[in-house]
Amino acid sequence: MAVTAVVGAQYGDEGKGRIIDFLAGNSELVVRFQGGDNAGHTVINDLGKFQLHLVPSGIFNPTSNNLIGTGVVVNPDSLLSEIEALEGSGIDTSRLFVSDRAHMLLPHHATLDNIEEKRRGDQSIGTTSRGIGPAYREKTARTGVRLGDLNHPNYLRMRLELQLDQVNTILSNAGESKVDLEDLWSHCMNWADKLGDRIVDPIPLMKDAIQNDRNVLLEGQLGGMKDLDWGTYPFVTSSNPLASFASIGAGIPHHYITNVIGVTKAYGTSVGAGPFPGELDNEIGKKLRDIGEEYGVTTGRPRRTGWYDSVAVNHTIWLNGMTSLAITKLDVLDEFDEIKICYAYKLPNGNIIDFVPDTPVLDTIEPMYETWSGWNVSTADVRSWSDLPIQARKYLDRIKDLSGLPISYVSVGAKREAMFAT
Ligand code: GDP
Ligand code: IMO
Ligand code: MG
Repeated sequence: MAVTAVVGAQYGDEGKGRIIDFLAGNSELVVRFQGGDNAGHTVINDLGKFQLHLVPSGIFNPTSNNLIGTGVVVNPDSLLSEIEALEGSGIDTSRLFVSDRAHMLLPHHATLDNIEEKRRGDQSIGTTSRGIGPAYREKTARTGVRLGDLNHPNYLRMRLELQLDQVNTILSNAGESKVDLEDLWSHCMNWADKLGDRIVDPIPLMKDAIQNDRNVLLEGQLGGMKDLDWGTYPFVTSSNPLASFASIGAGIPHHYITNVIGVTKAYGTSVGAGPFPGELDNEIGKKLRDIGEEYGVTTGRPRRTGWYDSVAVNHTIWLNGMTSLAITKLDVLDEFDEIKICYAYKLPNGNIIDFVPDTPVLDTIEPMYETWSGWNVSTADVRSWSDLPIQARKYLDRIKDLSGLPISYVSVGAKREAMFAT
């Protein structure tokens, strides 16, 4: 039995979904532990191409239970349309559950997200506009409503009244129309009707898996560099994509989480505003974006690109307690003569550092690079470490040395089978 957290080691979109899909084949339970429908997790397997936002990426394994955990903020409309799309593609979703303690992201949270982004002006974060920040704020302000409340109509109505009391003041101050309680109520009753059977107390599911020695996967959203506490604040999300939060978000004692796989691309990308050291705003960056098809799953925005930043990855390795790295998109580097790795940051005063400083300083650093030879041959059909071109092995060995971790998986294409354990 193993409990494995799969987390993003960079700025998101590392390929977490495809790793979970690959590993779910022998897992009893897959749990998304934070975030919301800001996630876009792409999975390509024999059943088709899918872009998941709330549904855990283990949904394609017919024998896994898939749980949307307590730490997630759930937009019920978004969840229902995702379920409908999956069912429409012939995917059985009968083993998909959602924690009764997970908070509901309501339609007005997206409106508030947009109002706030506008107010931030040139300090805007570039959020996904899904309402993630306002939904988590509601939760910590103790005015949130939870999925389980759908099963207690009188209680839910009282909670909604409290929430709307505050929200409507903000909306009318911003010149937006107020939320009508009756209108929202009828949405809630519809959600109760459609989601009621999936809303569960997640603890028995978790205990059952642990007590029966089953494998459990804990699926993170985004990456450590956009963690609320340890990322490039304020250009971060409103939850903690770190493995330590998986314990809370999934409802499992932390000592059971013995494997933490950090997923990282063989280069770097980021979506949204804020520091992204070494951004390649040039032809090389464009080539990475074109070959890697680096456009956001949720918003379609072009992703910012850069070389592999070992300083950033080492930051998230420490914070997550990672036990191995899974390197994705190695094939995207197939056509480069030279490949660089950022191994340190230079401060304006000339000092060299090998850690991620706080945002105002991070904004001023200059990345320091070492250069590695490319391999200029396709790796798309490689399925073992020994079949990788020697230059690719040297490049990955360097990443291994810099990280101090083993590389557990390498992927060389987007499809499920284009991946191997090392
Ligand atoms: P996630 O949010 O971490 O699950 O990652 P995304 O799905 O947002 O972004 C990863 C993108 O890279 C998706 O379009 C995947 O289909 C694609 N992808 C994942 N692994 C590989 C790989 O090894 N090679 C290539 N070429 N594409 C990959
Ligand atoms: P996955 O799970 C990439 C980014 C947004 C913005 C910041 C805050 O697919 O890796 P939010 O809407 O969360 O308030 O936005 O975080 N962001 C993501 N970037 N992949 C994601 O998810 C993201 N989820 C949020 O672009 O910079
Ligand atoms: Mg993504």
